[in-house]
Amino acid sequence: MNEMTSTSLPVASGLPWIGGLVPMWRDPIRHLVDSYMQNGPVFRLKVLNRSFVVMAGTDANDFMVRHERDYLQTGPIFAGFGTELGGDLFLSSSDGDRHKQLRRIQTRSYSPLHLETRVPEVITGMRRRLGALEIGQRLDVQRLFQLVLAEQVGLLMHNHAELAHILDDLIVVFRTALLVTVMRQWPPAALHWPAYRRSRQRILDHAAKVAQWHRDHPSEARNDLVDDILGAVARGDLIREENVRLLTLGPLFGGIDTASNTSAFALYNILARPAVRKRVMAEVDALFADGPMPAWERWGDMPALQGVIMETLRLYPVAYLASRYVAKDFEFAGHRVKAGEQLFVATAVPHFLGEFFPRPYEFDIDRYSPQRREHARAGAFAPFGAGAHSCLGSRFARSQLKLTLATLLNIADFEIDPPGYRLRVKSNPVTMPDGFAVRVTGVRRHADFPAEPWPAFSIAARGGLDRLFRR
Ligand code: HEM
Repeated sequence: MNEMTSTSLPVASGLPWIGGLVPMWRDPIRHLVDSYMQNGPVFRLKVLNRSFVVMAGTDANDFMVRHERDYLQTGPIFAGFGTELGGDLFLSSSDGDRHKQLRRIQTRSYSPLHLETRVPEVITGMRRRLGALEIGQRLDVQRLFQLVLAEQVGLLMHNHAELAHILDDLIVVFRTALLVTVMRQWPPAALHWPAYRRSRQRILDHAAKVAQWHRDHPSEARNDLVDDILGAVARGDLIREENVRLLTLGPLFGGIDTASNTSAFALYNILARPAVRKRVMAEVDALFADGPMPAWERWGDMPALQGVIMETLRLYPVAYLASRYVAKDFEFAGHRVKAGEQLFVATAVPHFLGEFFPRPYEFDIDRYSPQRREHARAGAFAPFGAGAHSCLGSRFARSQLKLTLATLLNIADFEIDPPGYRLRVKSNPVTMPDGFAVRVTGVRRHADFPAEPWPAFSIAARGGLDRLFRR
């Protein structure tokens, strides 16, 4: 057995004092891929005065699937996030049997079935929101998807779709709490900023209101996330009253930035690539040929749109790192990784390796065709993570992306604005498009769906922390 300690791992290239700060800040995924190529599947990454062990490659993803529960924990990394939101129990911070039990309680409500059986309501919601778009109107694409997708989660998991009034609060709180408590890139003082405190209070009040509404309107038939959480509280099944608000907010924290940024990347790639756009629009037009409300059974056969979604998940993985605490020593690729280390598993690195995806930086929607199936090699494609904590909403998200993109493209026509814009990507802290906007060039209105004006967002934190997240 190799007796090396994790201190003797190869170190990813970087500058004295600041280590890999600049490349990690500029293009973190590229830096992780380059470091993997240079150092192999396990190496040390230094950024300023912090030091992490990084594992990457298909063997690292396979290790997560087989051994994550044996050696790794998320509690020490994510517990502070829960505490900040008034609870001590949520999926990302739970380990072992508690985590298994909590996942079991919530699996039904995170399944895509809720979405697929309520397609008419979801489409109606989108037509109501977007039917009033005006030709010539300019839209921030990230914002467009944040609103539409948050309202879907609100409808399906909380039975409360109205979220425009707290959308910015949700985003400010999620990103600030993540940057302070998990990534430790921001000082704890950010959590005392009055604007942040107001946003935090508004979203906690919203969660409390939603939970109270469910208590006042019990329904066997609805079976949404809040029903499942309250059911577990009533049975004494793991969840205590003080965690209800945090668990209620869970899908909004887990689902808004991830799904909306992925949708924005997908829309860019559709609009910027004429050949892709033509194929996707042919599928969308065929789907809606018989009316504005196709049944879910008709959504299956859309290989071009599916290819766009898969290729977007591969090339723009919004959550490309799993952050873990090493609870017990283990061996990996001939190295010993010691307990007490902070570990990053760079789950998306194989997406950029030519041995799995030839010409990996090319956007090619046919990689996933039955003839090629480039994603099918074990550990090669992991946009939803790998192992015990892999995305509980992954199947929900895939259905949501397909439904939302196709319906959007049926409701309106868009052009990138300005036309010469080339996609810029930034991380803050999840990966997102920077400055991507579209202009509406056509709208198909339906008399059956009364439209609402695009909301003027009420930003509790206006003038405060939210500015830091804006361009
Ligand atoms: C394109 C969209 C999405 C992507 C790329 C994505 C990605 C991920 C990744 C990589 C993880 C694992 C994090 C880790 O290992 O530490 C994760 C976890 C999670 N995601 Fe997603 N996600 C997406 C959408 C959603 C949606 C829509 C929801 C809910 C409605 C959701 C709920 C969750 C939850 C609850 C977890 C924690 C699972 C656990 O710890 O057991 N995600 N997601």
